[in-house]
Amino acid sequence: RIVYLNGEFLPFAQARIPVMDRGFLFADGIYEVSAVLDGKLVDNAAHLARLDRSLGEIGIRNPHSLEEWVRLETELVARNGLAEGLVYMQVTRGVYERDFAFPPADVAPTVVMFTQAKKVSANPLAETGAKVVTVEDIRWKRRDIKSVALLAQVLAKQAAAQAGVAEAWMVEDGAVTEGSSSTAFIVTKDRTLVTRPLSTALLPGITRAAVLRLAAESDLRVEERLFSVEEAYAAEEAFYTSASAFVMPVVEIDGRTVGAGRPGPLTRRLRALYVEMAR
Ligand code: PDD
Repeated sequence: RIVYLNGEFLPFAQARIPVMDRGFLFADGIYEVSAVLDGKLVDNAAHLARLDRSLGEIGIRNPHSLEEWVRLETELVARNGLAEGLVYMQVTRGVYERDFAFPPADVAPTVVMFTQAKKVSANPLAETGAKVVTVEDIRWKRRDIKSVALLAQVLAKQAAAQAGVAEAWMVEDGAVTEGSSSTAFIVTKDRTLVTRPLSTALLPGITRAAVLRLAAESDLRVEERLFSVEEAYAAEEAFYTSASAFVMPVVEIDGRTVGAGRPGPLTRRLRALYVEMAR
């Protein structure tokens, strides 16, 4: 596998990050994940726009133009011969003697990109549906920034792994905020699609936005509002979205069967529409 590091394409073993990198010391950086399907980047401009916004929110200058990012990603995908999977991009505030406040402005950000082969479209879990557990959302208040400080999500995903399920839905004041690495949706008994409105309390999911566009084009009823764990238990259908899961049906929450216990018709339709859009 070839990795991109600060202007160079290198074999993994040759790509080294200094101990004083602020990403390592402080998790002082941001990241993005774009899917690749049939060798092409999916909804990539939106991911790069969010990357630019995340950087702006924490005062790191974007080291590349939109065109440069696309060129680097495309070259990385080609060099790795990636047909289906993910491109991971990370930018940190660079390397400097350990000090909490920002380093001088001339310290260059560290840029890393690598690919991961993964069946994003032909994922067998999408056929059977995923199970999720709920955990308390213990994160900070700026969840709209795609920060590499992911300890709360690591603990949430580990709780899911220990429960033998695919994802953890995080809960705050009784309402579902989002998945540990995805956006949460439910479909109510009257066939209304419900997902939490955007705010600093959750990541503005790129797949979320695409699914809401597809839902509008299909004349589906959509409500952007909070929903409780109880409402999710009683939902007709549920699913989560992300660059890596696309639209993933949820068939069980905390051991309670959702709807008929199989991927619901509305969820399946949205997944099919999303995959079609992505191709
Ligand atoms: N995670 N919410 C959180 C907390 C996430 O980490 C992600 C994505 C999403 C979905 O966003 P999008 O649809 O733009 O991928 C929502 C990525 C895939 C990850 O951390 O690997």
